Amino acid sequence: MNAYNHSGVRGKLLDMNIDKSLVDPFGRKIEYVRLSVTDKCDLRCFYCLPKAFKNFKEPEHWLTYDEIIRVIAAFSDLGVNRVRITGGEPLVRKNLPELVSRLHRIPGVNDLSLSTNAVQLSKHAESLKQAGLSRLNVSLDSLDPKRFKSITGGKLEKVLAGLQAAKMAGFKPIKINMVMMNGINEDEVNNMVQFCIDHDFTLRFIETMPIGDTGRSATDHYISLDVIKSRLEEKFDMMSGVMPGGGPAKYMQVAGTDLRIGFITPISQHFCESCNRVRLSVDGILYLCLGQNDKVELRPLLRKGIGDDELRDVILHAISLKPERHFFNDKPGQVVRFMSMTGG
Ligand code: GTP
Ligand code: 5AD
Ligand code: SF4
Repeated sequence: MNAYNHSGVRGKLLDMNIDKSLVDPFGRKIEYVRLSVTDKCDLRCFYCLPKAFKNFKEPEHWLTYDEIIRVIAAFSDLGVNRVRITGGEPLVRKNLPELVSRLHRIPGVNDLSLSTNAVQLSKHAESLKQAGLSRLNVSLDSLDPKRFKSITGGKLEKVLAGLQAAKMAGFKPIKINMVMMNGINEDEVNNMVQFCIDHDFTLRFIETMPIGDTGRSATDHYISLDVIKSRLEEKFDMMSGVMPGGGPAKYMQVAGTDLRIGFITPISQHFCESCNRVRLSVDGILYLCLGQNDKVELRPLLRKGIGDDELRDVILHAISLKPERHFFNDKPGQVVRFMSMTGG
């Protein structure tokens, strides 16, 4: 029995006491699950996946939608209210709107969002909106078609069409994620600012993280976002800003516009002390930190017929294993999995 079908259970759990809520050993409340629905991707961003990478897990290892719903319902029983769908590229998973609509119906999940490269978004934006998706974050590292191609291997025009479709479908906010890389795209900051003002998007800059060999190769292009912020402050009047969302970005607003710019600084100023999240991979592994290898495998338990009470206990135990922080600076070789396995 789970709260998805029997919301009374959720009430009972909440009444019982706080030892059934997800607080890790460092006092952080876990309220956000990043749910990867595929490790495949239709782009090859050089900082994420190797060009010829084919060794994706076979679909029989993937959690089915029924299994995903069971796990997220168990998290929701335990107080999780934010779910972000990630990949790889989530839109390559078949019938994603069906999953969205089932997640949307889980009591307690009140912030349901998607991180996508938007290559296939023009086809799916409307049905995702209808299915109950609340928010979208879109990766976009360059507005120059040639440069976009050399970073990602893909076509910029598809992403722009996807963004347009998302706007038409009524998504708001739409956040643009730009991984900031010295010598690659740091000269495009002003263009991207103007693009986001023109389209009413939120812009977020991200520091490159040494995740997998590909992520490590990109750290040659690392640039601290302090540098970018100083450059922006020279050109614009920047005030502190706020933005709905549950992630690590710290926002500023460009005075005289609606534009909010978020800074995601895992390297120059880590935010682990306020971490609120865990990650479920497509093959049913719960990763407790993006920057560490600690994990609990749920798939074998689900396939052996674990009960709902036991599943919640396994999740509670997993949270007790959550590490305090990443060590991207001191131990950059630590995380061998590619970013596509946990969706950032
Ligand atoms: P919002 O709810 O909209 O704030 O989402 P978000 O910013 O958490 O999600 P998104 O998928 O857009 O992530 C943006 C960037 O932040 C990605 O590059 C992620 O890898 C990075 N990021 C997200 N969560 C974490 C985290 O827990 N630790 C670290 N180090 N980076 C993270
Ligand atoms: N460092 C920082 N961000 C990364 N992303 C993928 N790989 C890396 C990396 N090595 C970003 C994507 C997307 C988000 C979910 O994660 O560009 O915006
Ligand atoms: Fe949380 Fe780990 Fe990310 Fe730090 S690196 S914010 S502890 S997931």
